[in-house]
Amino acid sequence: MNKKIYIGVAWPYVNGDLHVGHLAGYLLPADVQAKYHKLCGDDVLMISGSDCHGTPITVQADKEDKTPAEVVAEYHPKDVALFKQYGLSYNLYTQTTTPNHAEVTQQLFLDLLENNYIEKGTSLQYYSKADDKFLPDRYIEGECPHCHAKEQRSDQCEACGRMLDQGELIDPVSKISKSPVTLKESEQYFLDLSKLSKEIKENLDKNKENLRTWVYAEAIGWIKEGLQKRAITRDLDWGVPIPEEKIPKEKRLSSFKGKRFYVWFDAVIGYLSGSIEWSKRIENNDQSGEIIFQMQKGQATKWEDWWFNNNSRHYYFMGQDNLVFHTILWPGILIGSKRNYTLPNAVVVNKFLNYEGKKFSKSRNWIIDSAEIADNYGVDPVRFYLLRNSPENKQGNFTWTDFEATVNNELSAKFGNFVHRTLTFINSKFEGNIHKGLIPLEVKSKIQNTFENTAALLGNSKQAAALSEIMALVDFANQYFDQSKVWEVVKTESQKAQAILSNCLVLIANLRRLFYPFITNTSQVISKYLMIDEITPKIGKLLWEYSDEFNPTIKIENNISPLFSKIEVSPKVQEIPSNP
Ligand code: MF3
Ligand code: ZN
Repeated sequence: MNKKIYIGVAWPYVNGDLHVGHLAGYLLPADVQAKYHKLCGDDVLMISGSDCHGTPITVQADKEDKTPAEVVAEYHPKDVALFKQYGLSYNLYTQTTTPNHAEVTQQLFLDLLENNYIEKGTSLQYYSKADDKFLPDRYIEGECPHCHAKEQRSDQCEACGRMLDQGELIDPVSKISKSPVTLKESEQYFLDLSKLSKEIKENLDKNKENLRTWVYAEAIGWIKEGLQKRAITRDLDWGVPIPEEKIPKEKRLSSFKGKRFYVWFDAVIGYLSGSIEWSKRIENNDQSGEIIFQMQKGQATKWEDWWFNNNSRHYYFMGQDNLVFHTILWPGILIGSKRNYTLPNAVVVNKFLNYEGKKFSKSRNWIIDSAEIADNYGVDPVRFYLLRNSPENKQGNFTWTDFEATVNNELSAKFGNFVHRTLTFINSKFEGNIHKGLIPLEVKSKIQNTFENTAALLGNSKQAAALSEIMALVDFANQYFDQSKVWEVVKTESQKAQAILSNCLVLIANLRRLFYPFITNTSQVISKYLMIDEITPKIGKLLWEYSDEFNPTIKIENNISPLFSKIEVSPKVQEIPSNP
């Protein structure tokens, strides 16, 4: 009990692209993990923020005829609002444009440089004669040299997932002008991951059981293929500056003009810098800016408690295109710093979620707006559907028909209905007051087993399976209600009927705990209906266990509404453009 749990959530690019695929891929799973551990009494630190640098932001800025900083200022508050709407439990949601982040990034760079993992070199960089400048990765497209997929980005092939170096793409052209680009030499810093390969692999092996089989296999695959030197700087004027002054003379580049750190180098370092920022904010009592900031009562306040602690457990959540950066690059940076930072334990990767069989795509207007769907159907129905269909091992598929069916037939008809019929029955027959009976062993152990089984699954981030276990308990509860024939019993044996109903209440109260990581708002509404304490995680207190929270005489709320209303997705929403 009371372990230090670190939850790193992938930092989304702050370019207006957050659709429900992001929720399903890593945002909600990270939140479930955090809330589950809080109910275990663990001290959870959940950190993320906006990934503000790199070409995903500059490309958007070009499109909107804005500066990159304006793009950040436009979308960051929207993302923050969205995460608040969904109740995501970040301790800190910040951004990579802070001075603290730059400082931490630069220090890690200097550590790696001193330890001889970083060296100078030249890379051939795409240069457009037409535009008379070096063009960054995302401004270039061409054919993947490995799988020969067309129109691939120059830093990573989406089709086969391989990281690409400048110059590897076949027939590269500028995305903007479509004119051909050529390679020109440019001086950069390189991180030599091959020198770190052995230790990166050791960490993967040590954590094999914490990784999904396909994640471990893919990560090991990279290592077997042989890790390369990777350029960690770019010719781009939007990014964390290189700390020129602090670099020993012989290791300086001949010119730093127009060069910044590569976005992936600084972004992963956000996991550490964000933790440091959280501690600093506590120390300075500073909650200024567009951030999410939370601190739990009794929580440790020093980031070192998570980062210099071999007994802490570090989870990371992300989509499948982030795998290599979290299983190879980030551990490599941490190891190479030689500062003994805690390394990733569980790198939890989800596959993509598709939308009606096709990839989500903002540019083709094939997305579901995350805020809108929650406005229309409620946060918890969306959370439930996405978590029930979590694409943990294979790609998922959002369809409106499926969404409607899952919400109506499972969430509403099973769970909602069990709660509703129990409570309204107690109200109509007993005016909301009953005496507690003795809980049958069968019911009690069913609940206990569900806590145990889900603990094993959730500890391993098998969230969809855990949710299935919980739904099985809902099925059991409905069967218990049906088989007890309480509506008959009540006519002749009031005492017995009350005992049955109190058992149903115990089931509901425990289900509200089990559902808390998944559909938090609903759990709290149930607390209110049952007139028992809201669920308040407390460090050092185990709440992920069977508990009977009722007095011998039970009183419940008289004013009960159904937890979920049936939803109807309008045919208009379901209309699929013929060629999205
Ligand atoms: N911004 C990246 C993406 O959306 C994720 C960055 S995760 C971090 O794919 F580790 F680098 F922060
Ligand atoms: Zn490819």
